[in-house]
This record gives sequence, structure tokens and C-alpha cells, in this order.
Amino acid sequence: MALEKTYSMIKPDGVRNGHIGEIIARFERAGLTIERMELGMVTLEQAKANYAEHEGKPFYEGLIKYVTSGPVVKMVISGEGAVKKCRSLMGATNPAEAAPGTIRGDFGLVMDENVIHGSDSVASAEREIGVFFA
Ligand code: RTP
Ligand code: MG
Repeated sequence: MALEKTYSMIKPDGVRNGHIGEIIARFERAGLTIERMELGMVTLEQAKANYAEHEGKPFYEGLIKYVTSGPVVKMVISGEGAVKKCRSLMGATNPAEAAPGTIRGDFGLVMDENVIHGSDSVASAEREIGVFFA
């Protein structure tokens, strides 16, 4: 393991449903450090850059529309193995399959609105931090 930085974002449903505090508490309880944090909208350009790998897939247009639909919490999170740690705290992409005790398992219901985003690799994290904290 190494000291890493990852990008995570509480999605519009997570903010709207009042889960900001609980989610941040889970990251801190797990030993991760919130290095930067901002509440605000995602621009269309940022959404497209963040989800470029999914362009053309059936869910892409809905995903872009959803992630730009309301305020989110953008975060840079650091710690030992932060990328993997953050993903394991988040749980599986589909909340219906996410284990109880994970963020998506506890606060999510459907794939389209699954509470939180987290970078899937150190390289993705560097790219995404550049998109949201230029
Ligand atoms: P995220 O990027 O948001 O952290 O989610 P993830 O890595 O767990 O999943 P990813 O494969 O990157 O998908 C990005 C988001 O697109 C929606 N999705 N829908 N209907 C579908 O088959 C489908 N697949 C993905 C999800 O909202 C997912 O978070
Ligand atoms: Mg992803």
C-alpha cells in the first residue's frame, strides 16, 4: 500500500437525502483524510470529462443529466490505499447488490442514483482531481 489521493463525490441524491455528514464520518472513521471539499454543481464539461469512458453506452446520457441535476459534494481524500479503501466503503455499483454497511448498501436503492462516486484507480484519481479541482 502507499499513500494515495482519490477523488470522491457525493452525488445529487446523497446530498438531497441528507447523507453528507454520515458519509464523511465513515471516511474519517476509516482513517482517511478529507483534503479538499466543495459543495456545488457539476458543469456539463466536468460531467463529460469524468465519465468519458462511458460515452456511447445506453446509460450515458441519463448519467450526465443526473450528475448535473443538483448540488454534489466534491472531495479529495487521502490515506494509505485510499483508492481501494474508498471503493470498498462505497460498495457495489448497483445498490441492490451492495452489502449492508456500505454507503450504497445503506443509502442507495437504484443503479441510476447510487449516492456516491469514487475513482477506480490512482490514474483515474489524478485525472478526476484535475477535472474538479483545477
Ligand atoms: P462511479 O464511476 O459513479 O463511481 O460508479 P462505478 O465506478 O461503481 O461504476 P461505473 O461502471 O463507472 O458506472 C458509472 C455510473 O453509471 C451508472 N451505470 N449504469 N445501467 C447500467 O448498466 C449502468 N452501469 C453504470 C451508475 O450510476 C454508475 O455509478
Ligand atoms: Mg466509475
